[in-house]
Amino acid sequence: MSETDAIIIQSLLKKAPGFVSGNAIAEELGISRVAVWARLEKLREAGFVFEAIRHTGYRLVEEPSELYGPLLRAYLTLYGCTANLLCYPELDSTNSEAERQLADGREAPFAVLTSRQRQGRGRLGRKWHSPEEGNCYLSLAFRPQMSPRNMQLFTLWMGVHFCQELQNLCRLPLMLKWPNDLVLHMKKAGGMLTEARIDADSTRDLVFGFGLNVNGRCEEWPETIANGAISLAGAKGEPIPINPLTARLVVCGVRACDEFCRGVGVDEFPALWERYDYLKGKMVKAHGDEGDIQGIAEGIEENGALRLRAEDGDIVRLRAGDVSLGTTETLAPKTV
Ligand code: BTN
Repeated sequence: MSETDAIIIQSLLKKAPGFVSGNAIAEELGISRVAVWARLEKLREAGFVFEAIRHTGYRLVEEPSELYGPLLRAYLTLYGCTANLLCYPELDSTNSEAERQLADGREAPFAVLTSRQRQGRGRLGRKWHSPEEGNCYLSLAFRPQMSPRNMQLFTLWMGVHFCQELQNLCRLPLMLKWPNDLVLHMKKAGGMLTEARIDADSTRDLVFGFGLNVNGRCEEWPETIANGAISLAGAKGEPIPINPLTARLVVCGVRACDEFCRGVGVDEFPALWERYDYLKGKMVKAHGDEGDIQGIAEGIEENGALRLRAEDGDIVRLRAGDVSLGTTETLAPKTV
């Protein structure tokens, strides 16, 4: 039924805020007007509000405030994206589900979404707090033509494209903290986790996971993470319609991955990163494989490594690891 629902929602969205006649929907779907009415009743239960006027038709007045599969699918179609979408009320982790689907042979690209994760995970074996509804937990799965050496750069690339898209959609001053944090007003609004299966020197498949605090009430989270976290709605002071926003992210992510694999704009990437670079010019402490290093962040190299100018003036290039801000500002991790 969800395909039928997606088509009904799509016809209503296309005409919104105008009306669509029950007849037109029934004809499009090849079902009776009574069947259309019955589907609309079911959609009401899912949180939709419709206005119905006799001899005129139906109008979409309100959509669910949580992620809803048929609605997301309808938005994706409206935005011209054909990627497959799997949406669940709850999962262990969207990255894990995407990995299972890839292992089962599902055609990529596809998106996995959920409103709650029981075992959301972050980088370096950390947990990603995601038991409550209101936020977006998204994984995009690809079988890309990509060297495993480019994975670090890929995460930064996706981050910049998501950051740009979100800035445009929400008009908020979002920034990126190398290597995987989305930052807003000095707090963490989201995080990225890229995981891949590698064969010799090629990437068999890849999952890009993105957790974004959209409407969640971060202030009610456990004390250890509440202070360092922020949601888009918290910053904006009003709820954010999560379904169109998430559909835009799916479209953006699929396109960004395609461009990355084709090398479109990759040479100019360090300059683009600079626009969103939260660390630039700041004193940071890096915790890498070779111990702790302190220095001023000077952007990224072409391969995605973080450039640090150490106290003795030497440039240190950090390929992996974790960084925290030096002396004056702190950014608490959202992961516990
Ligand atoms: C981090 O900041 O350490 C990365 C966090 C990534 C969290 C997202 S939520 C969707 C996807 N599924 C997961 O289990 N993790 C990622």
